Amino acid sequence: MSAAPAVEVEGVAKRFRMYRERNQSLKAALMRGGRASFDEYWALKDVSFEIPQGSTFALIGENGSGKSTLLKCIARILEPERGRIRTHGSVAALLELGSGFHPELSGRENVFLNGSILGMTKRELERKFDEIVDFAGIEPFIDQPVKNYSSGMYMRLGFSVAINVDPDILLVDEVLAVGDAAFQEKCMEKFVDFRRAGKTVVIVSHAMGSMRTLCDQAAWLDRGSLLDIGRADAIVDRYVDKGHEKGVAPGTAGGANAEARVGSGEARLTTVEMLDASGTPATSFRTGDPVTVRVGYECTERVEQPAFALAMDTVDGMRFWAHHTRDGGLELPFIEGTGHVDLVIPALALQPYTIDLSARILDHTLTHTYDFRRHCYRFVVETGDHRESGGVVALGGRWTADLPASASETAV
Ligand SMILES: Nc1ncnc2c1ncn2[C@@H]1O[C@H](COP(=O)(O)OP(=O)(O)O)[C@@H](O)[C@H]1O
Ligand SMILES: [Mg+2]
Repeated sequence: MSAAPAVEVEGVAKRFRMYRERNQSLKAALMRGGRASFDEYWALKDVSFEIPQGSTFALIGENGSGKSTLLKCIARILEPERGRIRTHGSVAALLELGSGFHPELSGRENVFLNGSILGMTKRELERKFDEIVDFAGIEPFIDQPVKNYSSGMYMRLGFSVAINVDPDILLVDEVLAVGDAAFQEKCMEKFVDFRRAGKTVVIVSHAMGSMRTLCDQAAWLDRGSLLDIGRADAIVDRYVDKGHEKGVAPGTAGGANAEARVGSGEARLTTVEMLDASGTPATSFRTGDPVTVRVGYECTERVEQPAFALAMDTVDGMRFWAHHTRDGGLELPFIEGTGHVDLVIPALALQPYTIDLSARILDHTLTHTYDFRRHCYRFVVETGDHRESGGVVALGGRWTADLPASASETAV
């Protein structure tokens, strides 16, 4: 193959317009003399760089820095206002959780729909169908509507379709954060296979540890501009260092991305806090403490079948936990006005660490976000009565030993 880069990004700028009134009626528009009222926001500002062919390339940056927007531009889902993007080879993208999936259709129907959108023929899809379903590990559910899938199943099926398209360039946005460890490992293996086959993978992830070891190169986006580019290990280290430097105080606002907030706003998160055993908000807990996460909401209208989701990241960016009301068996028929939902955690199974909590309100398909507050609450875990030696979680195991008889005797 020639040495031409897989992707060339040249002076790309992307603007979003946010309309001030959500329900624009024709009459209202006419009253204003046809002029729409909106705010402009440049999500990408003159970004230029190249992604070498055959590289595994990380795109990193705080939430809202433009990573997803850039991937969508590369995938030609969005058209930049300025600049241009050249891709050499076929492109498949796994952009958002189950993007391209139709909630009412079954897994099987979605594989065919999604696969054909990604450019596979019906014959190819028929040939690869078993492999796709097998990789996703959702065979028993394949004929159920995907709206009944857990977020993990959604993501696994989406990923499985995207990799089976066998593109020259694979774009993946934040999928590593969602699946379980076994599936993440399978994804990693696929990325390695891709690299071995001389293909290019562009990954957006907050799993800095994985990005550091998996990727050759990285580009760091900061508020829509390219801040740094180079070897992945060096860029990731600089990024993580900067996150630490910020030293946000525990409690009120979270880590590196405290301001990050997105969503359509019909339902909004008001307070997100963690309560101790006495029901008082606290930012410091001990391993094993009972904790209640309280998520307050406010609606501008009645919102049917919402789901609430929480996630925790370590201060160095590892997503180690996520849970939502649907997977937790809490079906909310609707919400209206104001209120709150609680997640009661009997014993906080975490080791001493600084942790950022994120919260989200979603629709029942888990694909539409009403409000998302990333890293909105930071707390620290301190050593409790139960102590383990390292890592993030406290598994609570007990050591036993099958000692030789002589050793047991001396122990008595
Ligand atoms: N469709 C959209 N309409 C309006 N603003 C958007 C849209 N998509 C993204 N944005 C805004 O553009 C910025 C960059 O978003 P995004 O590319 O999703 O960032 P990242 O993936 O790095 O978190 C954010 O401020 C976000 O709110
Ligand atoms: Mg994104």
